[in-house]
Amino acid sequence: TTVLLLNGPNLGILGDREPEIYGYDTVDDIAKAVAEEVAEAGWEVVPIQDDHEGNLVQAVHAHRKSTVGAIVNPGALMMAGWSLRDALAAYPAPWIEVHLSNVWAREQFRHESILAPLAGGVVVGLGAFGYRLAARALLHLCDAQPA
Ligand code: DQA
Repeated sequence: TTVLLLNGPNLGILGDREPEIYGYDTVDDIAKAVAEEVAEAGWEVVPIQDDHEGNLVQAVHAHRKSTVGAIVNPGALMMAGWSLRDALAAYPAPWIEVHLSNVWAREQFRHESILAPLAGGVVVGLGAFGYRLAARALLHLCDAQPA
């Protein structure tokens, strides 16, 4: 049983990217944290970070049938990623949107996510810990049992 972890544009340099806003954890640290959470149910994670929307769209397609849920930090595609939105609309399993920073405490242009209406839930402003919460939310939504 597998969960898809998608991190969008500019998240590959996490740890080094405006750490006062995004923290010091890297995408690899985050993938490990998610893997740790889902391992409780004997599940695995497929972690993908990509700066290109088309590649994220293809990743959603490629894992549509093989994953039971997804965790998605779309980065700035939250504001304008219409094709990612359509890909996620066709994704049959529950998925959780995550933002490290509290987007509502920041610039106005970050206040609305075009993806969030499709998400099973949204975790915002809790840093890398938010991904752990999202993983736990997926276990809950899928009614996962301890391994
Ligand atoms: C972000 C918030 C977005 O507004 C921003 O464009 C990012 C990161 C976050 O995790 O806080 O790239 O998704």
